Amino acid sequence: MVVNRGLTTPEARQWYGERAAGGVALAIVEASDSIRFGREFTAENLRPLVDAIHAGGALAAIQVFPGWRGQPTTPMDLSREAIGELLAQYRLAAEICAAAGFDGIEPHGAHGYLLNQFFSPVRNQRTDAYGGSLANRMRLALEIVATIRPVAEQAGMLLLYRHTPVRDDFGYGIAESLELARALIAAGVDVLDISPASHEAPGDRAAPFMGLGAAVIAVNRLDEVPRALEVLTAGRADLVAVGRGLIADPEWPRKVREGRTSEIVACVRCDECHADLRRGVAVRCAEWPR
Ligand SMILES: Cc1cc2nc3c(=O)[nH]c(=O)nc-3n(C[C@H](O)[C@H](O)[C@H](O)COP(=O)(O)O)c2cc1C
Ligand code: SF4
Repeated sequence: MVVNRGLTTPEARQWYGERAAGGVALAIVEASDSIRFGREFTAENLRPLVDAIHAGGALAAIQVFPGWRGQPTTPMDLSREAIGELLAQYRLAAEICAAAGFDGIEPHGAHGYLLNQFFSPVRNQRTDAYGGSLANRMRLALEIVATIRPVAEQAGMLLLYRHTPVRDDFGYGIAESLELARALIAAGVDVLDISPASHEAPGDRAAPFMGLGAAVIAVNRLDEVPRALEVLTAGRADLVAVGRGLIADPEWPRKVREGRTSEIVACVRCDECHADLRRGVAVRCAEWPR
């Protein structure tokens, strides 16, 4: 989750280090702009962040955002040359992340951002090989995966992909998303990070992706322990991700594991952290005084 503390700062190391020490198995570092790798982010200046997460006892992955956040780009704005540049950015980002010691890398294909728009028959009105048919709308995601897969394989990094399974306003549903998932797995994706994964029941939108050949992550209010347990016991996902619950209480995993749930500083869904994100200030939990 973007927390506006940078990636190479002491504040970022403290933030992620605390959450790793709180008992998460895998910390997925926030959406990080592909364009900044090799310019602002290097293996040398990212390594301390990885070290802080490892020191806390967790594995470290990083989410890579296509281009840069805040960029008002649509699929139609990208020339073939710009697509080539984006692929080169992902390749460089993977090389830098591998050299920095990350255990995983995740293209951000969810939440209505650029890669998600490419997948959408409504948002993607291109008439070339990247628009039109489902195969064409999946092309960019698959090319990104194909570009970073050799780097990930060589370094032993997990390859994750975050995808939004259903979006009526984007004109696609679970059937098309399953096609994408199968193609992503064939291209070498190890973990499908489905977001949001819950609609009516916890993890119900992650469940269709189980058994395809990749591990599946579910998210969305799974810091509510009974919901997380339901996801796992019903076999709707292999892994549960906790977002705001870890902003509210970095020790959430340890407290759950040790049966100290009454000590958890629970997220009350006030959305103040989201407001911080939008304001561009360091994200804080309004519940911290507790
Ligand atoms: C402050 C904030 C920052 C977020 N940043 C990201 C991000 O960088 N990448 C991403 O895929 N989702 C991001 N999200 C969405 C969360 O990862 C998560 O999917 C969402 O909060 C629902 O999970 P939860 O109920 O456990 O919080 C963010 C959410 C918040 C509140
Ligand atoms: S600021 Fe509000 S929504 Fe965000 S983590 Fe804290 S309680 Fe939850």
